[in-house]
Amino acid sequence: MATEQNKLPAIISHCKEYGFIFPSSDIYDGLSAVYDYGQWGVELKKNIKDTWWKSMVYMHENIVGLDSAIFMHPTIWKASGHVDNFSDPMIDNLDSKKRYRVDHLIEGHAEQLAANSEEASNAILASMDQLLSKDDFAGLKQLIIDHKIKCPISGTCHWTDVRQFNLMFSTQLGSVADDSDTIYLRPETAQGIFVNFLNVQKSGRMKIPFGIAQIGKAFRNEIVARGFIFRMREFEQMEMQFFVRPGTQKEWYESWKATRMQWHLDLGIPKEKYRFHDHVKLAHYADAACDIEYDFPMGFKEVEGIHSRTDFDLTQHQLYSKKKQVYFDNDIDESTGKAYGNYVPYVIETSIGLDRTILMVLSEAYTEEDLSTPEKQDSRVVLKFPNKLAPIKLAILPLMKKDGLSEIAKELMNECRESFFCFYEEKDSIGKRYRRMDALGTPFCVTIDHQTKEDGTVTIRYRDSMEQERIKMSDVRNKVLEALK
Ligand code: GAP
Repeated sequence: MATEQNKLPAIISHCKEYGFIFPSSDIYDGLSAVYDYGQWGVELKKNIKDTWWKSMVYMHENIVGLDSAIFMHPTIWKASGHVDNFSDPMIDNLDSKKRYRVDHLIEGHAEQLAANSEEASNAILASMDQLLSKDDFAGLKQLIIDHKIKCPISGTCHWTDVRQFNLMFSTQLGSVADDSDTIYLRPETAQGIFVNFLNVQKSGRMKIPFGIAQIGKAFRNEIVARGFIFRMREFEQMEMQFFVRPGTQKEWYESWKATRMQWHLDLGIPKEKYRFHDHVKLAHYADAACDIEYDFPMGFKEVEGIHSRTDFDLTQHQLYSKKKQVYFDNDIDESTGKAYGNYVPYVIETSIGLDRTILMVLSEAYTEEDLSTPEKQDSRVVLKFPNKLAPIKLAILPLMKKDGLSEIAKELMNECRESFFCFYEEKDSIGKRYRRMDALGTPFCVTIDHQTKEDGTVTIRYRDSMEQERIKMSDVRNKVLEALK
């Protein structure tokens, strides 16, 4: 049985064995921090995307979608501040030649200290936060030296100075390799939204407050990439920029914090598995920011960021593109009796990592159950996904191929497959098939047997309780649809 400490390795190996997630380029021994989604992972991913899209776009009349290109004009990244600021303080160990993010190195040490003294652990974290907020790199190195923090590989304290490393990947556009052709793989999807703000506003006749939502790939050359799909070099984000009247951003920030937390709770994940973490050191674009943290197997970590980004991005794009990014607000300001007029809107952003959400959902769903009886040792691994996220909703299992049972099963398959994803399997014993469906997180299995031929009933088996009941085959589709609501 996996303990909390080895739950993550158990999830990683389960994901590979059952076709959820594979290391990328696996036959070439993988590519660090890059992963491929297999046949069931891709369904899980799609279901999470759909849930987010529905909650953001379909459930809000004033939010619309967008799919902007990954490649964008390189000046966008100059305007957004990513060329100059999108970097992390790093330190290299001269013996192991390994590079570390300074905050990760110090946090790792603080975790060790916490085993003996919470106070000592909190003190070093507080010093680190203070130094980071002042970009005091010499101070950060001194903190590492003073606390004799060792390289986990070489075990020595032989450190370089702390330096900044930019996390953006660059590539060349066109065939001539000179600097003017250098473009970047986007490190966030948000900028695609900002530079389309007026296109969407005008073509959609959108009135403030309104939002633009987007799901797409982002790329970061993470120096220390770890934690399976928690920190990847190629990943997906689900981001939404909500454009508001200046001065109303505080209210909207609080309102989006509540809305996003409710989305998480609606996944069926208990409240105590989440917490808000307010940022001490604000990013260059924000006047308030927090993370929604989930209690992953490796502890509480960020899954989503909510940022009040002021008018920073639109103002910067206005400056660099020399195109006005203003909105004309003809609503009447009660304090002056006049229309609000032209302004650059403020923005509240909600930004959730899709892959991190997948890891969160997997961590929550992964369950090992001991089913031993005095007569027999037995156990099962079951993924207790919420029904709406389960890759397969219904498994249709004829008891045997012959006697016309597989034909009846295929009839049921044809009746249900337009409504939700069904899986047909006739190999192996029924017990083995049930266990396999548990491991894939399938909430319902239906078995077709000889009695089906006589009275049109089937056995339906419920994943979590493993209970079984006999129902009419003609009721199966509606029963599953009801459970998906
Ligand atoms: N547009 C704002 C933005 O990109 P962020 O906090 O850097 O903010 C937002 O990223 C979310 O993207 C994070 O909360 C996390 O879920 C996800 N994310 C960021 N870097 C990631 C990485 N290297 N691998 C996987 N997910 C990542």
